[in-house]
Amino acid sequence: MNGTVKDYIRSIKDFPHEGIMFRDVTTLFADARGFRMAIDQLLNPYAGLRIDRVAGLEARGFILGGAVAHQLSTGFVPIRKKGKLPGAVISEAYQLEYGEAVMEVHDDAFRKGERVLIVDDLLATGGTAEAGIKLCHRLGAEVIGCAFVIDLPELGGRKRLEAMGMAVHALCE
Ligand code: PRP
Ligand code: ADE
Repeated sequence: MNGTVKDYIRSIKDFPHEGIMFRDVTTLFADARGFRMAIDQLLNPYAGLRIDRVAGLEARGFILGGAVAHQLSTGFVPIRKKGKLPGAVISEAYQLEYGEAVMEVHDDAFRKGERVLIVDDLLATGGTAEAGIKLCHRLGAEVIGCAFVIDLPELGGRKRLEAMGMAVHALCE
């Protein structure tokens, strides 16, 4: 395929619940050209900026964030769902498009003043990303931006993050 990032994303109706149109990025990740294009484009706005660490939001943000961190030669920090991280954590509760959850990060994951880029596959209500941003801030890190493959603008996530003063980068809507 010679298309854009969007062309590699599959939509699955009624997953995980009736009424949700699930935007499935496994088809993007599975394609060598699509995956490289996504990683390269996620990084576009940050050329020349200092980034000390990349933080990925569970689960698909790990796949993208790991590749982004490798490209930047930075370390990678997983921001995980409750109960998954083995060390001491700090937590933030948040609402999802379909439910409620808690995100956690190791309490020694960042150094004070560190410049962090947050990466995930999709921005919907912004609840997950907001929880991730708050966790970074609570540990004294500076979030220099949030990068997503997909923004679902009708769910208001971009506006919510921008209202917090965050720079949002998304490859498609
Ligand atoms: C999806 C997606 C984002 C989040 C976006 O993850 O990968 O992390 O939802 O939604 P929001 O902007 O409304 O918070 P999901 O919660 O499905 O978890 P998973 O990646 O572990 O399946
Ligand atoms: N997370 C929240 N809403 C989603 C959607 N529509 N598709 C994929 N992941 C999501």
